[in-house]
Amino acid sequence: MNPNHDWNRGGTWSPPTDAEKPLCPYKPGFTVDIKEHVPPPPFGTGYYPVGDWPYDRVTDAMLRSITQTELVMTNPPRECKPMASSFAPALANLTITEGIAIKDGRGSQLALCRISPKSPGQQPFSAVAKIFDPLYYSFRDKVAPSNPTDVTFDAEVDYCSEAAAYEHLRRGGRTGSFAPSYYGSWTFTLPIRHEGVVRQRQVRMVLIEHINGVCLHGLCWDKQLALRCHESYRLGVLAAILDAYVKLMHAGVEQMDLAPRNVILAPGPQDTSAPQPIPRVVIIDYAWAVVYHRAKEEVKSASWQAGKFPRNPMGYFWNYPLDDFGYWIPSAWDENRRRKQEWLMKEFGGRGKPTTKLCGRSLTSLLHRCLGSEKGSWGHFW
Ligand SMILES: Nc1ncnc2c1ncn2[C@@H]1O[C@H](COP(=O)(O)OP(=O)(O)OP(=O)(O)O)[C@@H](O)[C@H]1O
Ligand SMILES: [Mg+2]
Repeated sequence: MNPNHDWNRGGTWSPPTDAEKPLCPYKPGFTVDIKEHVPPPPFGTGYYPVGDWPYDRVTDAMLRSITQTELVMTNPPRECKPMASSFAPALANLTITEGIAIKDGRGSQLALCRISPKSPGQQPFSAVAKIFDPLYYSFRDKVAPSNPTDVTFDAEVDYCSEAAAYEHLRRGGRTGSFAPSYYGSWTFTLPIRHEGVVRQRQVRMVLIEHINGVCLHGLCWDKQLALRCHESYRLGVLAAILDAYVKLMHAGVEQMDLAPRNVILAPGPQDTSAPQPIPRVVIIDYAWAVVYHRAKEEVKSASWQAGKFPRNPMGYFWNYPLDDFGYWIPSAWDENRRRKQEWLMKEFGGRGKPTTKLCGRSLTSLLHRCLGSEKGSWGHFW
């Protein structure tokens, strides 16, 4: 789902019968040849220059008069010329070994796959395929369900944003730690019977590292599971998430969708209520991300990439609601937001510092004095 929805649309539309639409094929055993693909520049979320907006939007009247299959067949994903004329796309075979998030109507489809490169000497490897197939995006607008949404546009926006973010992070050597390793953007061809004729359609996807761990969403919202983890572990994980987020910003990518469903802990917590080591924390899902250097001038200039150090998480998250983290957050924070700010201060502002006067100039100057303290790897506070 992209953040570009019109939140106030009325309407009485229902998706028409779509006899040509095949069942979602992305099940274990699904196999297809894939080809490396150069994604078009990111667009469509309002952060990128209007001049880069390449698509003639399908009108609302048109969306209401056709099936999802017709929409997909008449609006194929765009091609983009490779920068280098010598670009020779890699070829491989993909076989789905396990579904991760597969459901008609959910948006992108995620599956664990075996990738067998066709180039001699390259070994098969496992990866997660994030497949942006508009045929299995929800034709109903998720925000205003009695209206259609242009799934071809949504899938293309997601693909271009996700590929741009990973590509940028990979180039800067920032994948493989708090972002998954990135194995490139790809395309494949699927047959479909349309208007009585078998045709071919292109589907885009990215391949990323499989993070063998536990998604934080399930832990945050199960009170028993969350509270079984020692508070020092929960807060250590939270600190690592906030730290990762500002480091991504400093690397030039603002992920824009910080939520437990987009965080994986690898490994997941051990079944103990005692303190335990903080695992690798990985932020996934860059479909809403902004790559600063490709964004509009005003977004670029407000970005946090320029300084020598990442922005201090204390400043960035000072007033940022963390309610999405459910039971992972101490309940005392719900009653008094100062508790969260005191924790931020302790965690990122230098240990053993006074905690009085937690706002305004006195805090700023206090924090500036803390610059270079134990953690020492953050820059601007506010
Ligand atoms: N690299 C990965 N390794 C393991 N699991 C993953 C990986 N990427 C995604 N997942 C799982 O699949 C789920 C959906 O992935 P992702 O968030 O990228 O898709 P999405 O469609 O953009 O999600 P949503 O819009 O629901 O946030 C994640 O919540 C996570 O549980
Ligand atoms: Mg997600």
